[in-house]
Order: sequence, then structure tokens, then C-alpha cells
Amino acid sequence: MEKDITLSFTDRRQVLAPGALEEKLRACAPILAAAVAGEERYADVLGWRTVDETAGPERVAFLLEQAARVRADADAFVVIGIGGSNQAARAAVKALRPEGGPAILWAGNTISACEMERTLRELNGYQSIYIDCIAKNFETLEPGIAFRVLRQYLEKRYGEAEAARRIFATGTPGSTLHQLCLDHGYTFLTFPEKVGGRYSVVSDVGLFPMAVAGIDITALTQGMRDMRDQLFAAPAEENLALRYACLRNLLLEKGYRLEMLSFFEPRLDYFAKWWIQLFAESEGKEGKGLYPVVASNSEDLHSIGQFIQQGSPILFETFLHVQARDASVVLAHEEKRDYFDYLEGKDFWDINQVACRATVAAHSEGGIPCLELTIPALDEHTLGQLFYLYLFTCYLSAGVLGVNPFDQPGVEAYKGYMFKNLGKPGVS
Ligand code: PA5
Repeated sequence: MEKDITLSFTDRRQVLAPGALEEKLRACAPILAAAVAGEERYADVLGWRTVDETAGPERVAFLLEQAARVRADADAFVVIGIGGSNQAARAAVKALRPEGGPAILWAGNTISACEMERTLRELNGYQSIYIDCIAKNFETLEPGIAFRVLRQYLEKRYGEAEAARRIFATGTPGSTLHQLCLDHGYTFLTFPEKVGGRYSVVSDVGLFPMAVAGIDITALTQGMRDMRDQLFAAPAEENLALRYACLRNLLLEKGYRLEMLSFFEPRLDYFAKWWIQLFAESEGKEGKGLYPVVASNSEDLHSIGQFIQQGSPILFETFLHVQARDASVVLAHEEKRDYFDYLEGKDFWDINQVACRATVAAHSEGGIPCLELTIPALDEHTLGQLFYLYLFTCYLSAGVLGVNPFDQPGVEAYKGYMFKNLGKPGVS
């Protein structure tokens, strides 16, 4: 079994000319060199790049201490946040959450009254509740109003002083959220000024909720550092992130418009949501970019599988494989005739692997360019590596595409209408 994350490419229809990747890698070597050095033009948004600037061992130790206080007392912990402010924590919690510890609830990621009601009803069933409101500049509507509702809920249940002990907020120093914490005694954690939402897994934003859920953030951040070292040291032709960035851009240049992340582990469903947000907000601008879509298999083979195999040839696929066997359910003997005897004695794990190999074969033979990203295991260290690999790949890929990976001017368009119609002061 491979110890490292690997990337391979199957191109049965020879969409890319022989040598095209090598040529692209050579042409893009300066993009890699600039990213490794840290570009001056992005100096105010590259806080995540070294890992140590925002998630060094001391910060991790501090977060573990804070999380231990919550874990010792809480039976429910609500993470309030949207977009980059909650996606990474949710990805890790859904993929790795160990047994025990407080229930983790998610709020502030929707304006649905029904969901808010449901969360409040669910909270009535817990004795000891803590919350963390995560918002970079605290103007985002969803976490803002969810925080107000949940703060008031805690105050009603525990009284103001006790509620304050149970409230964490993660924002930028000097923000209105910071002021609220100073005024009312909430514990303030840092949303680094130099880190945008979708890159914030490398900070308190992603790491604190993970630690409360019992995820080993020491191993996770070590995984990030190990991947950083690997990517910073590898020359262009061997660089995993640059290879991935170049392949996806070459396929875009050939007319493919979607990258589909496909996997056979539903534990990765929320990692996939994180990935979608990272790439859609970072690259989808100036009329450019690949649209990121997901197939969570084998379930989605029974819905979008038909389109993938025979529909418009607009997508290429990146399969995310997990190598290490970490679960086992064997199909036992059965007297009743259900016609599944041919699978008797076989493990779900192996059947899933066979389904996965069959899908790669069918899709690549059907003409879909297939990339395969194989991770040795689904554990904290590897997930840390994978987070960092994708952050850095996204940075490089946007460089190859020629767009700024750290802004998102397009998301303001709908907000103008919404805030005007809601009567926000200063919006006309
Ligand atoms: O990646 C981003 O920058 C965005 O998705 C933000 O994370 C999201 O809009 C939430 O922003 P904020 O943390 O300011 O509430």
C-alpha cells in the first residue's frame, strides 16, 4: 500500500496530446515558484500558506485547552457559520468524528425558519449547550441572526452570566463581533485577518470545532505541514499540486467545463462540499473556471451515472480513493433464496472496491478523462494533507487560469437586492 497521496490520469481517448502535460508543467514552473515564495500581491491573504503562521503548535495547544473545557461540560455544541466559516470543520467532523463528546449541531448556514425552529427544538433535549459564532467581518446575515437567536436562547436557559461562559465567537480582531465579546464577556477566538473564509481550515475557524468534536488537530495540522513541505520541495515536473492544477486546466482548455469529484465513501460528502466552495469561489470569475460537481457513490451512480456515461461530454472526473480498510461487514450465509449467494463471504469493503474499479473502467472507456487521487487512509493526518493539497492546488490552478483565487466579487450581486429589500441602513 502506498504511504503517500498519489495522482494518476487515464486518458483513453487521448484528449491530451502526448507530452502536453510535461510542456504545461514546464510553462507553469514560475507559478509554482511564486506560490512557494509567497506572492507580494497576495501578501494580505496568504496567512494560511505556511500553516505555522495561523495554526502552529502553540495555537493548537491553546485550542485544545479551550476545547477540553467545552468537552468536559457540554452535551451539545453549536457551530454558527456559513461558507468558508463552517465547511472545513463540518467536513472533518462528518469524516472523522470519534465516538463520544458533545453532539455537534450546525446553524447560521441557512435562513430557513424551519431549520432554525428544528435546531431550537433539538437543543431543548440537551442539558449543557455551548456555541461558537464564526464570522470574519460579522456582516454576513445568516450567522448574524442565528447568533442573536441562539444567544438569547442560552440567556433564557442559563441567565446572562452563565450564558456568556458558554459563548465563543471567532472573528477578526477589531471587528464588531470582537467588540460584542469584549462588552459581554464571551470567549473570543481569532479569524486571522490574512486568511479568507475558504482557506480558514488552517486556523481557529476550522480547528476549534474539530477539537471540540474530539478530532486530533495535532495530527491534522502535522498532515498540513507535511504536505506543505512536500509541495514546497518538489520540482514542477514532480509536484503533485502543480500536476493536478495543470491537468485540470488542460482539460478546461480542451472544452471540459465541469470537474466531478467522485468517491465511494459517503464520509467524504461534506469534504466534497468544502471542495466545491473552495474551487467555485476561487476560480469561477471573469467568465472562466471549471464548475465543481460531486458524485457520492455508489448512490449517485443510480442518478447521475447515466449522464456521466452517455450524456453531453462536458465533464472530467477526479476519483478520490481511500486505500486503508477501516471497516468490515461480511455477507453471511442465508437459507432463504434471495439470489445474492454469489456474494456470500464477501466483505462490503471489497464489494465497494470492485464497484469503484468498475466505474473507473466504464467511465474511462466511455471517453471521460479520469484522474485518480488516492489517499492512504481516512484519518486526521491524511485529511490534513488533503486539505492543504487542495488549498495549494487551488492557489496554483487559479494562477494557471489567470484569476485571483482569494476574492469573490460575484457574491455581492444578490446581496445588494436582498439588503435593500430588507431595509439595511446605508443600502439604497
Ligand atoms: O470563502 C469565503 O470568503 C466566503 O465563503 C465566506 O467564508 C462566507 O461568505 C462567510 O463569510 P463570513 O465569515 O464573513 O461570515
